[in-house]
Amino acid sequence: MRAIGIGLIGWGTVGCGVIQTLRDNAEAIENRLGIPLKLLKVADLDLDRPRPVDVPRELLTTRVEDIMNDPDIHIVVELMGGLGAAKTFIKQALENKKYVVTANKALLAHDGNELFEVARRNGRSIGFEASVGGGIPIIKSLREGLAGNRIDTLFGILNGTANYILTRMTEGGLSFGDALREAQAKGYAEADPALDIEGTDTAHKLAIASAISFGTPIQFDSVYTEGISGIAPLDVQFGEEFGYCLKLLAIARNTDGRIEMRVHPTFIPRDHILAGVSGAYNAVHIHGNSVGNIMLYGMGAGMLPTGSAVVADLMDIARDILANTPERIAPLAFLPERLSLIPI
Ligand code: HSE
Repeated sequence: MRAIGIGLIGWGTVGCGVIQTLRDNAEAIENRLGIPLKLLKVADLDLDRPRPVDVPRELLTTRVEDIMNDPDIHIVVELMGGLGAAKTFIKQALENKKYVVTANKALLAHDGNELFEVARRNGRSIGFEASVGGGIPIIKSLREGLAGNRIDTLFGILNGTANYILTRMTEGGLSFGDALREAQAKGYAEADPALDIEGTDTAHKLAIASAISFGTPIQFDSVYTEGISGIAPLDVQFGEEFGYCLKLLAIARNTDGRIEMRVHPTFIPRDHILAGVSGAYNAVHIHGNSVGNIMLYGMGAGMLPTGSAVVADLMDIARDILANTPERIAPLAFLPERLSLIPI
């Protein structure tokens, strides 16, 4: 094998981040893997819209079959978003014995249990580091770095757009609408920004992170969710006067096997460690019974940070392919046959 072949579905913001990261860091990636990661095809329905990162014409296609049927493509990267078609393509890729990397938190929150089972049946894995916390390696930290712990709590800021809006309303005195427009212009928001401002995107991410933390299936329907769309500048100003700062928090707790998951706007003291997390930054605070407290912090959205997380998964999977250990990375942090639904 001379290279690990990559097929990308979705030439949008994150797709551009992946292409640029693969290009800018090609030498370091090859040095670390001993083999290059080669982008062989990029599929998108709209090939004419201007993008921040160009792709040579010969790699572009509007037909996903060009990726699915290419024997030189080992890993399919799904960055088109949405539920229906993305799910079909991921299943098709796995059934064609290709590995999958996705940033699609909505799809994993809804159908992740089924997709991980399809991956297991086909002896392949799905990388999803980019689905939670943008560029912050939250998934790898929970699954690998903290694997020896019982995780008791996990809480933090998991949506860059909502945090950007709250920051700009507080520090810049912007209206909600103007702050949202800025977040959209910077490429942080979802195609449907209601997912960001109604807390749904945060709930998707919390459901995924909780499943890994607590060893349960993904249980998105059990997340209590309230967003920031009802927040007025006056709410933020009142909080400020009393020494509080408003954040959209994701909170998960395991109390004696009972899992609680919630997302809602929360006033936190101005000197709390999460109060300093501003703009599109995310942070997650984790307590493990052996390690104690851990905090992960970094850019939670945006082209290159999210691209960085996708490329990390590509490299992990490339190592599996080279070592011929296709299932080294279990989809979640538990064995499928030991799945149990923990009452909420
Ligand atoms: N819309 C998401 C956010 C993108 O703002 O956090 C990253 O998942």
